[in-house]
Amino acid sequence: MPPLSGRDLLSLSDLSADELTELLAFATELKSGKHHPQFPQKVLGLLFRKASTRTRVSFSVAMYQLGGQVLDLHSGVTQVGRGEPTSDTARVLDRYLDVVAIRTFDQSEIQEFADYASIPVINALTDLEHPCQILADLLTIQEEFGTLKGLTLTYLGDGNNVAHSLLLGCALVGLNVRIACPTGYAPNPTIVEQASQFGQGRSNVLVTTDPEAAVKDAQVLYTDVWASMGQEAEADDRLPIFQPYQVNESLLAKASNDAIVLHCLPAHRGEEITHEVIESSASRVWAQAENRMHAQKALLASVLG
Ligand code: CP
Ligand code: NVA
Repeated sequence: MPPLSGRDLLSLSDLSADELTELLAFATELKSGKHHPQFPQKVLGLLFRKASTRTRVSFSVAMYQLGGQVLDLHSGVTQVGRGEPTSDTARVLDRYLDVVAIRTFDQSEIQEFADYASIPVINALTDLEHPCQILADLLTIQEEFGTLKGLTLTYLGDGNNVAHSLLLGCALVGLNVRIACPTGYAPNPTIVEQASQFGQGRSNVLVTTDPEAAVKDAQVLYTDVWASMGQEAEADDRLPIFQPYQVNESLLAKASNDAIVLHCLPAHRGEEITHEVIESSASRVWAQAENRMHAQKALLASVLG
């Protein structure tokens, strides 16, 4: 088990390259069913301000399989939704829970929570990052190719939370990463810079507006919705801007012959990905979704251990 006892995961950059590699190896071990650490009487809180299917259910099932309990603390059923300060909520929940996963808008909210709580705080998606998603993505790629180092992943679409965590995660494990997005929708330059530094000597990090050049010879094509949660009002305006970045059969044909397609889900068929591609033999989206549970089980056991 990686020695992450008591640690937070607010950003993928909270992990070193070795810790990330070890966490993926532990997830593989747990998935094989060889070993199942138990944490009876430990309680995970899910403090969510946004909708979720995969993250909510995969965290819950992972915690149950570790012998623990889960409390669903959606903002609508707690005082969080009525404006109780994060610093107060954190100091109170810290005294009840053993670990908390938070899904919210501002990264500063989970940072503040972590500043006031001693229990491990896990980022279950913010506007800035989605680190747990990328743990599952890397696990899926490793299962497919037997390695991560030296492969190329191309992400097409919005320079959003998923793109940011992919940049950091790929750079840490030595996977080349190309982000292709329209002008004005590039990822946060600070994260690109951080990823470039992590990647020095082991991963090429590229941000481009050219989708065709970006997919050339890539082993992994990855996309996400063009408008994230909280950006619904911009969704229609974005459609024509993002159209050239759609993952379709013609773009997939320009990637490596053995390329696989990933999507964090939920998917909007006909927008960022076509029905044909998500249902094609190249698609690994269901294995990817399953791996959320295995990766997060490894993470929970490691921070509780
Ligand atoms: N991929 C992902 O985080 O899905 P949910 O929004 O359903 O949790
Ligand atoms: N970028 C998307 C990911 C959903 C899992 C969002 O933030 O809505």
